[in-house]
Amino acid sequence: MIVLGFESSCDETGVALVCTERGLLAHTLHSQVAMHAAYGGVVPELASRDHVRRVVPLTRQVLQQADLTLQDIDAIAYTAGPGLAGALLVGSSVAQSVAWSLNLPAIAIHHLEGHLLSPRMASPCPEFPFVALLVSGGHTQLLRVDEVGQYTLLGETLDDAAGEAFDKTAKLLGLGYPGGPALAKLAEQGDPKRIALPRPMLHSHTLDFSFSGLKTAVLTRLKDAESRGLADAQLRADLAAATELAIVEVLVAKSVVALEQTQLKRLVVAGGVGANRLLRQLLTQRLGKRQVEVFFPPLELCTDNGAMIAFAAAQRIQRGLVNLGAQTYGFDVHPRWDLAAL
Ligand code: KG4
Ligand code: ZN
Repeated sequence: MIVLGFESSCDETGVALVCTERGLLAHTLHSQVAMHAAYGGVVPELASRDHVRRVVPLTRQVLQQADLTLQDIDAIAYTAGPGLAGALLVGSSVAQSVAWSLNLPAIAIHHLEGHLLSPRMASPCPEFPFVALLVSGGHTQLLRVDEVGQYTLLGETLDDAAGEAFDKTAKLLGLGYPGGPALAKLAEQGDPKRIALPRPMLHSHTLDFSFSGLKTAVLTRLKDAESRGLADAQLRADLAAATELAIVEVLVAKSVVALEQTQLKRLVVAGGVGANRLLRQLLTQRLGKRQVEVFFPPLELCTDNGAMIAFAAAQRIQRGLVNLGAQTYGFDVHPRWDLAAL
């Protein structure tokens, strides 16, 4: 079966074609980063309008890339949540309309399920069960994944997500949006050990995270240096490196505890922060020693994309978890949606 998938939960419009037998056939993506950069963050109304502008051309393009037509499609998938309500409604209404016009099933996909199954598009493919470290701009969670649709939350952030901590600290340091990649780049020129930053909840005996104190610590160090005329380029680079190391060390330490508690030997990392090079390095190093296999999505599929949505739907279809029969079409979205409730 061939699935056409739409992602529009935040600031990327993604459209993809996935075959249940042959995997990813083609995907197209438009990032709104340049548009939102002028405002220092995502402007929801502008995001929705841009999804409207992009989705049809991207759909034409993806069909052309795969040398297919709408008549070759067997099912439509779309991100139904969590995310920005207006942005989700664009993808949902386009997906439902296409499905209705072709008399095809429309499959609502949870954005985070898309992220956490995405490493299964790569080779080698992680087998179930595994621990998933989900690190995006809006979420930081550790989950036990027993099968498609069987997710147990082990721990999550109590305040800012890891990506948010990267973004907010980057803003303090005068870097652009999105902050994660910019902060990671500046960190390459810094000394991560020169400035000591807290490791929030490192020894909390739970698998929960808290990152909101980190930006306050960085702000305090920055203000202090500014008042003494010492806030030069090197200090900013050192602060960037110290922030990156603090976030990454907490993520690695909690992942190790989650693997110990569950006695599982596989870790899957997903979400935008999964593109971070230091996180990849430290996880591979530390877990290699423990005979734990670590899986990352292909770099280009770490951040939001349509491929992960079409792929999650394909996985659900293969396991008989989708109603492919008579459909009722509606534009329901879930801006807040608990993954464990699936
Ligand atoms: O998964 P994603 O594309 O969108 C959400 O669903 O939130 O994740 C975006 C987040 C942003 O916070 C961005 O700064 C962060 O991922 N990010 C990174 C890197 N690339 C993206 N953070 C650290 N290092 C990176 N290389
Ligand atoms: Zn995401």
